[in-house]
Amino acid sequence: MKTGPDSKQSLLFCLYFLCHACCVPSNDTADSCQWLWINSNNLTVNCINKDLRAVPQGIPVQACSIQLGVNRISHVRRSDFPHYAFNTLKLNLSHNCIGKIADGAFGSFPNLEQLDLSDNRIRTLRDDSFQGLLKLKELHLGRNVISEVPLFHDLLSLQALWLQSNRLIQIPAVKFMASLKVLSLASNKIVSVDSGSFRGCGSLAELHMQHNLISRVAGEGFDGLFQLKDTYFTGRLHLGNTKPRQFTAVKTIPLC
Ligand SMILES: *[C@@H]1O[C@H](CO)[C@@H](O)[C@H](O)[C@H]1NC(C)=O
Ligand SMILES: *[C@@H]1O[C@H](CO)[C@@H](O)[C@H](O)[C@H]1NC(C)=O
Ligand SMILES: *[C@@H]1O[C@H](CO)[C@@H](O)[C@H](O)[C@H]1NC(C)=O
Repeated sequence: MKTGPDSKQSLLFCLYFLCHACCVPSNDTADSCQWLWINSNNLTVNCINKDLRAVPQGIPVQACSIQLGVNRISHVRRSDFPHYAFNTLKLNLSHNCIGKIADGAFGSFPNLEQLDLSDNRIRTLRDDSFQGLLKLKELHLGRNVISEVPLFHDLLSLQALWLQSNRLIQIPAVKFMASLKVLSLASNKIVSVDSGSFRGCGSLAELHMQHNLISRVAGEGFDGLFQLKDTYFTGRLHLGNTKPRQFTAVKTIPLC
């Protein structure tokens, strides 16, 4: 059988098409991200607003800061990230569609200090969601749909926990988070401050609780905070428009 010019042409076209499909960088790899060397040991990988549906493959292990905000990433797994990324201090996944965080998802980042997961669709968190983040200082979880917060065993260095605009109905289990300095629980559906809610939060200086539904404050509701007289005055307790009678007991705190 003779092969005419037509079939040769279509074969060439097929080859061209196949190669094109393989060679064009897809948005699933870190190729579409910008690499910014601030200095020889400070690399920022900028993948902001790249229409990514998943964490891209090939993020360099030496990245100091990984910026993945404003995409359409829907889940986070440990295998999405490079192993043993000791250099990474900042990871930003804000403004995505993350609903699910696998246990130990961030276990590759033993030195991570700042994690931003705000503006996502996170509904549930598990004890092991932040497993291994022993050095984490700042955790941003604002504007999700979180209704319950488990006890985070590993967040021993946490200084700021942002949980504003979620669906919490109770004060989360922050008891004994000794390094916590800033806690935002604003714009939730918290109905009461139970006895000893902040016990052991020896460093807490700034507490945001405005725009909640607080109608009951137990006698020892702010117990842990009272042990901190000095920090107390420099700190702020934002109660916004929620000033039930019991708050007169803490009149030394400027209400704003
Ligand atoms: C990396 O550079 C950024 C921007 O200049 C800076 O904020 C950050 O502290 C640097 N990190 C390290 C580890 O040098
Ligand atoms: C890849 O990202 C660009 C924006 O950087 C976007 O215009 C394009 O549609 C994306 N492609 C896919 C296949 O998602
Ligand atoms: C994370 O990225 C978003 C969008 O790029 C930015 O607005 C936000 O400030 C970043 N978060 C932190 C903690 O720097």
